[in-house]
Amino acid sequence: MKRSLEEKSYEALSPFELKNKLISMAQTHHERMMLNAGRGNPNWVAINPRQGFFYLGLFALGESQRKPHRPGLGGTAEQEGISKRFEEFVSNNSKKPGVVFLDKAYKYVCDTLKMDSDEFISEMVDAILGDHYPTPDRMLTLTEQIVHKYIEQEMLAGDTSIGKFDLFATEGGTAAMDYIFSSLLENKILHKGDKIALGTPIFTPYIEIPRLNDYELVELEVKQDENSDWQYSDEEIEKLADPAVKAFFLVNPSNPTSVSVQQETLDKITELVTTRRKDLIVLTDDVYGTFVNGFKSLAAAAPHNTILVYSFSKYFGATGWRLGVIGIHEDNIFDKRIAALPEADRKELHQRYSTVELDPDNMKFIDRMVAEHHFDEGTLFAVLSCGDLAGLVSMGLEAAEAKIDKENPLTPGKREAAPGSPMGDFENIGAFFTRTFADTQLMKSEVFKLAGLEEKAGTDALLRYEGGLDALYARCLQEIGEREEAATTS
Ligand SMILES: Cc1ncc(COP(=O)(O)O)c(C=O)c1O
Repeated sequence: MKRSLEEKSYEALSPFELKNKLISMAQTHHERMMLNAGRGNPNWVAINPRQGFFYLGLFALGESQRKPHRPGLGGTAEQEGISKRFEEFVSNNSKKPGVVFLDKAYKYVCDTLKMDSDEFISEMVDAILGDHYPTPDRMLTLTEQIVHKYIEQEMLAGDTSIGKFDLFATEGGTAAMDYIFSSLLENKILHKGDKIALGTPIFTPYIEIPRLNDYELVELEVKQDENSDWQYSDEEIEKLADPAVKAFFLVNPSNPTSVSVQQETLDKITELVTTRRKDLIVLTDDVYGTFVNGFKSLAAAAPHNTILVYSFSKYFGATGWRLGVIGIHEDNIFDKRIAALPEADRKELHQRYSTVELDPDNMKFIDRMVAEHHFDEGTLFAVLSCGDLAGLVSMGLEAAEAKIDKENPLTPGKREAAPGSPMGDFENIGAFFTRTFADTQLMKSEVFKLAGLEEKAGTDALLRYEGGLDALYARCLQEIGEREEAATTS
């Protein structure tokens, strides 16, 4: 078949670029939503932290105007007595839902986490006013602790014995991946041409990252088995025992399947990194972990080997805020690998980071990531990756909400991918298969046939079935009904 020149011109595009091109060409809203589904957008907005954020903003404005320079030009908020003034603000506005939430968050932080009330309110007010450069530039001190509690609850199943992870605030999960890969390579932990294992299927844009020309990493697939509830079989995990495999990069719970790695596999990973593969790097994107009760990240199974990425985009309906974190355990293989580099490499890295750090030799790997971000941005000023300090206030309030919510639900019901949202569709493919195979006992190939698709089109293609997965499920049931009827009448 002869292909048009236009079609040929798209051959050079990456899947992500191609998707953008297709979106621009799509005629209808529905078509556009379908094409954008790989980067699913929740169709909800977490109201509590938003309300809290805006009321806190009003309080902060009042603080700035206590001692104004002149009308229209406020001053820097004063820390002394700020929590008393905040408590007054709360009692004067006690009927406002956003203030009720703020009060709960305040009590959680001061009573449960035992933080100093003036320091906490001062950090929040200064950040929301945004009148200072971010210090420290990796993450605000108290906000880091609040987010750590949240990560501990949601990613480590509340297990405090695993220890402390340093956190770095980034502009979402996707940017985090970029900093991670560039820092691993710059610090000679990974090298061009290294083999890295990708847990597949995986969030489509991620397939591109290792392939990027800059990194030239070689991929090895570690496949989830569609017929065993999208788990990794022992044989697949055993691929990681090969010392040629430098890193294992996965999304857990997976997108598009929505299934999380089972305990047995986590145990196998623990066994690997404590015996045969002490050097294995694990890179896990746990963006969807908050949707699974009792979720346990690979960061819990291999804390010293893992770089954890979490994003606030999904659970809080906050894709526009661009809020994510990278977590690395304070006792980790990355710092050790850097310390053990040959002298010449250490000298080179000393040179590289000496512009941003007084003691570059002892700079933690996670802080090197922050520096890489500075270099990317072409600035040595303290600049948070997540863009702005107000974003961090939002992150802190969201993390606090999730903690408070666990003990005393603020938002009734579990936040599930809502049917009809593109994210809902994608995340339900896993559940769809589990249900369809169990209820109808159809083979996967038969399901594809009923959808009018070839199996090799992949599971994502099922979303093109008119009316979505529920309609396809109904069609499967109907097929089984018809088959049973035919069997009884023949
Ligand atoms: C698995 C996964 N990771 C990361 C992202 C992007 O997250 P962020 O908005 O934080 O960049 C998505 C978005 O769909 C995703 O599905």
